[in-house]
Amino acid sequence: MSGELFDIENRVVVVTGGLGQLGRQFSFSLSECGAKVAIFDLAAGEKGAASPLRAGIHEGKLCVLPVDVTKRESIAAGLAQVKAMWGVPHALINAAALDSPPDAPATENGPFENYPESSWDRVLDVNLKGVFLCCQVAGAEMANAGRGSIINIGSIYGSVSPDQRIYEYRRGSGSSFFKPIAYSASKSALINLTRYLATYWAERNVRVNMLTLGGVFNNQDAEFLKEYCARVPMGRMAREDEYNGAVVFLISDASAYMTGSNLVLDGGWTAW
Ligand SMILES: NC(=O)c1ccc[n+]([C@@H]2O[C@H](COP(=O)([O-])OP(=O)(O)OC[C@H]3O[C@@H](n4cnc5c(N)ncnc54)[C@H](O)[C@@H]3O)[C@@H](O)[C@H]2O)c1
Repeated sequence: MSGELFDIENRVVVVTGGLGQLGRQFSFSLSECGAKVAIFDLAAGEKGAASPLRAGIHEGKLCVLPVDVTKRESIAAGLAQVKAMWGVPHALINAAALDSPPDAPATENGPFENYPESSWDRVLDVNLKGVFLCCQVAGAEMANAGRGSIINIGSIYGSVSPDQRIYEYRRGSGSSFFKPIAYSASKSALINLTRYLATYWAERNVRVNMLTLGGVFNNQDAEFLKEYCARVPMGRMAREDEYNGAVVFLISDASAYMTGSNLVLDGGWTAW
C-alpha cells in the first residue's frame, strides 16, 4: 500500500540547482526511487561536476543540462531536450539559489546600510526571477498536460529573520558580519509565489508547494555550529539526506490533495 502511495517510478523530474549540496541529494534519491531526473544547473559544463552523480545513477535515467534559470531561452532549450527524451515533466523542483557563504567578501556580509545593490539584484535574479521563469516555462507545459507538482525550496530565513546574534562571535573578533537581506527577502517572496500559482493552476491539476528547510551541516566552523545548534530545538543541523523523503512525498500521489502549502523541515527552529 505505502509502496504504491509513494510510487514515483518513471516520473520525469526537473531539478534546478541539481548539482548543489541538496540538489544532488534530491537527484540521487529520486533516481533511486525510479524517477527520470533532469538536472538544470549552471555548473553542468564544469569539468567533473556531474561525475559523482553519474556513477551512482541508473544509466538512462539522469541527464545533466547546462541551464541558466535566469534566462528564459536557456530554460526553454533545456525543457525541449527533456520533452524529446522523456515527455512533459511530472515535477519541477526549484532548488537553484544563491546565498552568501560565510567566507564571502566583507561587502556581502557587512551592515545592511552598505549592502550592495548589485548583490541584491544578483540574488533576486536567481532565487526569485529564476523560479518565476522556470514555473512559467515548465509549469505551462504541465498545466497543458493536466498534471504536475512544483516544489519551491525555501528557507527558515524566508519565514523568520536570520538571528544575527549567531554571528556575534565574528563581530567580536573584528569583522563586521551580518547575514545579508537579499536571501531572506527572496525566500519570503517564494511563499506567496507558491500560493499564487497553487490557486492559479489548481483546476488544471498542477500542485505547487513550498518546502521550507533549516540549515544543513556542511563542515561549518565550530563556533557557528555551537551558536546555530543552540537555537534548534533538536539541537543539531540537518543531515543533507534528511529532506529527500519530503521531496518524494510532494511528487507522489501521497500528497495528491496538497497544494499552496508550506512544509517546514527545520528541526523546530521556527517553533519557538
Ligand atoms: N544548504 C542549506 O543549509 C540550505 C538551508 C535552507 C535552504 N536551502 C535551500 O536549498 C536549495 C539548495 O541549496 P544548496 O545548499 O544545495 O545550494 P548550493 O549552493 O550547494 O547549490 C546551488 C546550485 O544552484 C546552481 N545555480 C546557481 N545559479 C544558477 C543559475 N542561474 N541557473 C542554474 N543553476 C544555478 C549552482 O551551480 C549550484 O549547483 C536552495 O534553494 C537553498 O536556498 C539550503
